Amino acid sequence: MSYKIAIDGPASSGKSTVAKIIAKNNDLVFISTGYLFRAYALILRNNNLLESTPDAVISFLQKRMIEVKNERLFIDGKDYTNESKSEQISDFASDLATKDYIRAYYNHVVQEMIENMNVVMDGRDIGTIIMPNANLKIYLTASITERARRRTKELKELGKKVSFYKIWLDICKRDYVDKHRKIAPLKKAKDAILIKTNKKSIQEVVDAIQKHINNTRKVEK
Ligand code: C5P
Repeated sequence: MSYKIAIDGPASSGKSTVAKIIAKNNDLVFISTGYLFRAYALILRNNNLLESTPDAVISFLQKRMIEVKNERLFIDGKDYTNESKSEQISDFASDLATKDYIRAYYNHVVQEMIENMNVVMDGRDIGTIIMPNANLKIYLTASITERARRRTKELKELGKKVSFYKIWLDICKRDYVDKHRKIAPLKKAKDAILIKTNKKSIQEVVDAIQKHINNTRKVEK
């Protein structure tokens, strides 16, 4: 029987950083679903599909090969990691994620991928929609200021020129869009464990989650 962990939360709440460590320590596959929406955004923008019909968009997406290897995003074999992290693509991904046909396609792709897989998956709708029966659900949050600080650091490390205040505003806007969209809005699943990461180190968050894994996996065995 497979073991599945859902980690949800707003932008830059530390989901991927933590999920990656959890995956390594527990021999689980790590999937960060945000990369898919970023890939869809890049594909649509780079191929002038912004005005196309849903059918044309989906049929185009079906022919693309999207891969995430060692935290790098490849589309048809080309590395788009840096471009995928731009604020323009972040915004566009968030807009696309509100569209019913994009979400229907994404749900299908992801659910097929994780069947029978031991996995830790992060996103916005993992505990609520994608894996409602996950063995463990975590909801990570941090204040907007703390998340903007982390995101500024991350982008600077990628060599990008960024303004903290612009990032802060972008995060506010993305939170609003993600939480208020009609389909699969970002929210804590009723049975998810809430962890506020503001004053916690990465290791402290990992340790807190590991305790829950040890409890739930024991029950599984
Ligand atoms: O996680 P990340 O910031 O890379 O995600 C980019 C965007 O993709 C988010 O702002 C959100 O709108 C969308 N997303 C989503 N559902 C997911 C993962 C990401 O709607 N499961």
